[in-house]
Amino acid sequence: MTAVLLTAAALGSVKAQHYVLSTEHTSIGITANKDGKSYIQYYGARIGDNDLPRLFALKSNYTSESYPAFGLKTKGQKAIAAIMPDGNYSLDLAVSNTERTADKDGQLLIITLRDKVYPVQVRQVFKAYAGTDIIGTWTEISNQGKKSLKLTKFSSAYIPLERGDNYMLHYHGEWACENYIDETKMPNGEVVINEKDGLRTAWINNPTVMMTLDGASREEQGEVFGGALMWGGNYKIQAVATNQNLHIIAGMNEENSNYTLDGGETLTTPEFAMTYSQQGKGGVSRAFHRWARRYALQHGNQLRDILLNSWEGVYFNVNQAGMEEMMKNIKALGGELFVMDDGWFGDKWARNNGETGLGDWMVNKKKLPEGVKGLVKAAKRQGVKFGIWIEPEMANTKSELYEKHPEWVLQCKNRPLSQGRGGTQVVLDLCNPKVQDYVFGITDNLLTENPEIAYIKWDCNAYIMDYGSTYLPADRQEELYIRYHQGLRKVLQRIRDKYPDVIIQCCSSGGGRISYGYLPWYDEFWTSDNTDAYQRVFLQWSASQFYPAIAMAAHASASPNHQTKREVPLKFRFDVAMSGRLGLELQPKDMSEQEREFAQRAIASYKEIRPVVQLGDLYRLVSPYDKGSIAALMYANEDKSRLVFFGYNIQYLHKEMVPYVKLSGADENKTYVIKDMSPADAAKPCFLDGKKVSGKVLRNAGLKLNDILKGQMSSVCLEFVAE
Ligand code: DGJ
Repeated sequence: MTAVLLTAAALGSVKAQHYVLSTEHTSIGITANKDGKSYIQYYGARIGDNDLPRLFALKSNYTSESYPAFGLKTKGQKAIAAIMPDGNYSLDLAVSNTERTADKDGQLLIITLRDKVYPVQVRQVFKAYAGTDIIGTWTEISNQGKKSLKLTKFSSAYIPLERGDNYMLHYHGEWACENYIDETKMPNGEVVINEKDGLRTAWINNPTVMMTLDGASREEQGEVFGGALMWGGNYKIQAVATNQNLHIIAGMNEENSNYTLDGGETLTTPEFAMTYSQQGKGGVSRAFHRWARRYALQHGNQLRDILLNSWEGVYFNVNQAGMEEMMKNIKALGGELFVMDDGWFGDKWARNNGETGLGDWMVNKKKLPEGVKGLVKAAKRQGVKFGIWIEPEMANTKSELYEKHPEWVLQCKNRPLSQGRGGTQVVLDLCNPKVQDYVFGITDNLLTENPEIAYIKWDCNAYIMDYGSTYLPADRQEELYIRYHQGLRKVLQRIRDKYPDVIIQCCSSGGGRISYGYLPWYDEFWTSDNTDAYQRVFLQWSASQFYPAIAMAAHASASPNHQTKREVPLKFRFDVAMSGRLGLELQPKDMSEQEREFAQRAIASYKEIRPVVQLGDLYRLVSPYDKGSIAALMYANEDKSRLVFFGYNIQYLHKEMVPYVKLSGADENKTYVIKDMSPADAAKPCFLDGKKVSGKVLRNAGLKLNDILKGQMSSVCLEFVAE
């Protein structure tokens, strides 16, 4: 287990208090002098417990206040701004206390800052997660007076990084095209990544950022900072640079979101999780994946079931016989779980398309006369687990719920209601505790009536269209974006407290919620509504920058693909899906005998490699973003005795030179036996099958893929098992 060290050494002046909080490979160094300011002096590779004062000689201009406040000496970027009850716009924070403590997950350093005159306190927390290289940081802002004050900026983190040849990476997309990687040289000035969707806050811009410290990014070399904001609402990550300095400032997006702090109230800002790597982007990703599996996902160390989801197979056309047939067919292929997607509910307003029924979570008896119970029984008969789709934060105006409670949806006074999907979709007001109870009740009812339900797909297909709540008073409307998510978190926590075992997928029009703002309550995310395996090579590659394979739902779907119309060989579709959490998103009865035979073999193989893919370390080898002919990645288990390699030809050009792919995750001191895990023809595995190769050769000479990947959309999945 990683040692987490925390020391304070008073060096220099009697009052100077230096703190080093470390993970195995990283340290943050803070100076917090009583009654003075608190400074982040260092964040980077691990240093010694007493090294902080020694660093000043080398980096005298590196000092950065840990939580600068607006009002006095106003120039520059600040972390917090507030308006006092008497109209004073300034805060003057000084250190009142420092505390070193621990909780079950790691070591904490807490700097308490207090305003010198007004009763405002900020506890700034830094947490080193045991067994990982992640440090989390957030603040707890308290109004200890009687009168309300207004917060107009309330960041989670204000992190100084070394200014140099910095390149910034962020992940930008839209529906069915989530998370494309964008890398730009960091200019002097400000670059902002933010979201204003209100709900699908990872769709356009993922709430994550990498910043290199030494030139353009590389996969396994170079210094890279990585950070993720753990907030599901609107957020803002700023990178601010001058010739001398570079800061990452991250927090809730305060645009249209001032927050009134009543006397005695505390606002806890969301956590910003960060790491620093000397092994390039790969090091950042592996640090986040390890942390996620242990701390930031539900059941992060529990292998996931192979499932069939009904959506692309039948869309809204669910019925008892059809669902049971799908259960039978996925079982025959070797699958373990069947999930019934949209279309199963609504009575007066039956859900036959996107226009009706959201909010009416009673079974549609015409389609499913035996109810959910009948499906649960059918799943038992067929020997698979059962899961179900819901979209609990939403209603349609064509629903009994809306007819009964029109006041429960977000709306602006004296304005026509904006309506989304199907021309009728509206968003429930989760600021309202009654609505919170109702949303909790949807899951609670399903799970109490059917404790056998093993899996829930929680969808969210709208943004906050109308900024108004009938619940919040007039002077608190400006808190809607934030209070919605505080409400949602309460609901999710109640569900988790009562149902710790159920697996929940975080879906949001595809990948609208791939975010550590949600994942702590979920097990996985739906990576994209785009299931075209060819484009998935890109989408999964980018999602893997911060999010682990165990959480990345990757489903083999039909060909031609329903979104892109592209025809993709079944083997390629499986080889791509098998690099994540494998599932199927098709109608099995439409598969040919030969396709079924292949799918059965691929699923059996996935069961073998599943622990390595889902719990192992990822090494990305050749990026599809390099626009070459191939893409390749691999997973390695903890002791590197098992490696799983995926190679894809994404742009075949005859006789084109394809470089050797070096397997950076292999162990030089091991010899491996190779097994082709997904030959198209069982009798004709790839020529490498059964051969032996040393880790040295894999790392230093590599695999020549033109011999293996012949033709556009050819692919391979190889396992290397140490002798
Ligand atoms: C959007 C999701 O991303 C899809 O997978 C599917 O569940 C549909 N919603 C159902 O309406």
